[in-house]
Amino acid sequence: MIRSVIAGSGSNIPPTRITNDMLATIMETSDAWIRERSGVEARHFVDRGTSTLALSVPAAAQAIESAGLASADIDMVIYATMTPDYYMPGNGCLLQTALGLRSIPCFDIRQQCSGFVYGLQLADAHIRAGLAKTILLVGAEVHSAFMPFREASWARLAGAVETPMPQDEWDFNTQMRHLEVLFGDGAAAVIVRAFEGEGRGVIDHVIGADGTDFNRLYIPSAGTRNRPYIDAALLERGEQWPQMDGRYVFKMATTKMAEVAQQILARNGVRPEDLSLVLMHQANRRINEYVQKLLGLPDSKVIHNIQKYGNTTAATIPLLWDEASRTGRIKPGDLVLSVAFGAGMSWGANLLRA
Ligand code: ACO
Repeated sequence: MIRSVIAGSGSNIPPTRITNDMLATIMETSDAWIRERSGVEARHFVDRGTSTLALSVPAAAQAIESAGLASADIDMVIYATMTPDYYMPGNGCLLQTALGLRSIPCFDIRQQCSGFVYGLQLADAHIRAGLAKTILLVGAEVHSAFMPFREASWARLAGAVETPMPQDEWDFNTQMRHLEVLFGDGAAAVIVRAFEGEGRGVIDHVIGADGTDFNRLYIPSAGTRNRPYIDAALLERGEQWPQMDGRYVFKMATTKMAEVAQQILARNGVRPEDLSLVLMHQANRRINEYVQKLLGLPDSKVIHNIQKYGNTTAATIPLLWDEASRTGRIKPGDLVLSVAFGAGMSWGANLLRA
């Protein structure tokens, strides 16, 4: 029987680290508020001009190398991001060229924070169907491009401006503070490979979505509801920036992540104590602590990276995987559960033996 295994991984976090205290110099917020409400202590932002594709190329190359493969071995790309370089085409095709891959199929998927969980399901389905053998699955985001800060605010974050901040700029930054403090940039990739043998591989997935309340977490424009799809008026209204009803998303994320985790464990006859490690999407540490408690999981079986990187959307779970496998927290044969919830609304879980 053909199964899919994760045969290698890589990651890339940009060097510039922005602490909560640094953010508090450009908006009305505090380290204490951000830590207590979300668990975020710092995040990393790219330098201006580094795109999502550029951030993902070293991560993808590292994943190929760590699997002991060459670019020519890759026969499919699945690229999960909600922050692509262009409206079209998607980043998958751009990565094909950047890495010098063969003219293989390249998918782009847009499931936001559920992107990796959906991507692994898609990769596994292709492998089991015999349509691919070696898939490069990437999750990458440059959220800093969605921060509405003006140039002077970026300069303040870089420590280049020490004069008091103008009130209008302070108020402008503060308007979106519930979003600005949560997100960070990052990229990670895994190689999903066909494997014929016992004791390893992807076991099951549960994925789902419900678009009823999509506008509780979305970016209104640019889009084809408008003609032309982008113009000065909608920019003036600020429709290019993300909008989020944090309380609604928090409630739905806790419900759906707990539900989907319990569902995948029950239908595979797995008890929480059988799991070696759980990789949860990192949107808010309090969401994950709720799910952890509900499943009765000890701290030793749950890892976090939200404190270091914030919410890195599609990159979060592969970043956790890469760090856990490099530090020996994931060993061959370990039973690993990944769970995510994101905009859409969309959610999912994967169960696998490493
Ligand atoms: N600093 C200081 N105060 C703030 C900040 C901030 N950064 N942000 C909001 N506040 C204030 C609010 O204005 C409000 O003040 P008020 O009571 O005077 O009106 C107060 O803090 C409480 O605000 P809430 O929004 O109720 O705070 P909450 O405890 O819900 O935390 C948060 C907000 C962190 C956004 C939380 O709701 C959350 O994490 N939601 C889920 C996010 C998520 O899961 N997103 C999904 C993934 S993203 C994706 O898929 C792309």
